[in-house]
Amino acid sequence: MIFAAASMAASEKKKWLFTIFSAAVVSLLIFLSVISVFIASSALISTRQFPSLVRYGAPHPPAFAYYISGGRGHKDRIVRLLLAVYHPRNRYLLHLGSDATEDERVQLAQAVRGVAAVRAFGNVDVMGKPDAQTYMGASNVAAMLRAAAVLLRIDSGWDWFINLSAMDYPLLTQDDLAHVFSHVRRDLNFIDHTSDLGWKEYQRVQPIVVDPGTYLARRSQIFHATEKRPTPDAFKFFTGSPWVTLSRSFLEFCVLGWDNLPRTLLMYFTNVILSQEGYFHSVICNSPEFQNKTVNADLRYVVWDNPPKMEPHFLNYTDYDQMVQSGAAFARQFQKDDAVLNMIDSRILKRGHNRATPGAWCAGRNSWWTDPCSKWGDVNVINPGPEAEKLNDSMKRLLDDWKSGLKSCK
Ligand SMILES: *[C@@H]1O[C@H](CO)[C@@H](O)[C@H](O)[C@H]1NC(C)=O
Ligand SMILES: *[C@@H]1O[C@H](CO)[C@@H](O)[C@H](O)[C@H]1NC(C)=O
Ligand SMILES: *[C@@H]1O[C@H](CO)[C@@H](O)[C@H](O)[C@H]1NC(C)=O
Ligand SMILES: *[C@@H]1O[C@H](CO)[C@@H](O)[C@H](O)[C@H]1NC(C)=O
Repeated sequence: MIFAAASMAASEKKKWLFTIFSAAVVSLLIFLSVISVFIASSALISTRQFPSLVRYGAPHPPAFAYYISGGRGHKDRIVRLLLAVYHPRNRYLLHLGSDATEDERVQLAQAVRGVAAVRAFGNVDVMGKPDAQTYMGASNVAAMLRAAAVLLRIDSGWDWFINLSAMDYPLLTQDDLAHVFSHVRRDLNFIDHTSDLGWKEYQRVQPIVVDPGTYLARRSQIFHATEKRPTPDAFKFFTGSPWVTLSRSFLEFCVLGWDNLPRTLLMYFTNVILSQEGYFHSVICNSPEFQNKTVNADLRYVVWDNPPKMEPHFLNYTDYDQMVQSGAAFARQFQKDDAVLNMIDSRILKRGHNRATPGAWCAGRNSWWTDPCSKWGDVNVINPGPEAEKLNDSMKRLLDDWKSGLKSCK
């Protein structure tokens, strides 16, 4: 512009020549920039990897839908847990409850997008509009039903839904888990349950509570009614662990609701304390279609204090041996970045800091400066390690129990 302004003072001829000259310079610049953009993009294309095609269905290893949920201050734990259970074949839905800030939710989404495989396979989502998770209230069941509905809708490939919280951690790799579950009928559900209510009948079944998370904007505690109500006799009340591994077909039954049982029980459980310890258990065991597809186990390693408190004991390195020998797939609960998590990372998952757990899908070199999972091969191949054996053995026992029909929905 300065150059052009100076040329205005020159003669008309000079001005005309200059116009031609500057037009030539401008077109040369445009030409050069087009070339450089072209070169840059072709360089990008040649180094960029396209995700290998994920195949689902009976001849292929099973796939899991993970719902990982936490609250305020749990962003970093969720990222760590996601990397520990990550596999391109699976689907992940991350949820930071309404007590977490929008900022934390955005940071979670950014951290997830920072993982090359996640960007390429596009199989991780962060719930944008959070749900309330009232302590002991029914909003927990609502949040989980919503997660199941979202996962059913966005991904038609997964076989099992697994519920994890930010306090949980896996005890084996996803290759191990997929190997063990490739010997399991895909319509089976893993849910710890009993109808032997004991003290719970008076303290958990008969009290009536109201969850403010379903109608008040501000977080508060559940309300306890002074009246109690009789134990149901229109259906049998089952209770158990809230940590579940449910089949796709059972969740379709719960979410789509062509049979009214899941809906009527949902209405009843709205006023039950700790409804997440009874809702799915009661629905599955009262439905003729699913009660015989129910394995009585939650596949988790948990240690309760004696007498049990509301939350299980925090696991640490003194629990390591028992925990890995237990034949469970996941353990809970852990303090943030506890040393025992590093032990699991290095001894079992072989996972580097800020990297996904390696599996047969990772095709890169493994060194301290290159992440083996920044390059990938065939994601439909799995390669189980020695840790798979323990879960495999406990699975064999569980399936024998299930076949005997003596331990399920009793
Ligand atoms: C599923 O996960 C959530 C979040 O960690 C938890 O509150 C709930 O108890 C779990 N189980 C069910 C059945 O909702
Ligand atoms: C489930 O098992 C019970 C006994 O174990 C049997 O009576 C019932 O008919 C079975 N239901 C279905 C739908 O197979
Ligand atoms: C680890 O857990 C045990 C209980 O199993 C407890 O006695 C011990 O104090 C814990 N250690 C640490 C370092 O927290
Ligand atoms: C797991 O068990 C199945 C049979 O149930 C068997 O075919 C497979 O080899 C076992 N895998 C391991 C790692 O033990």
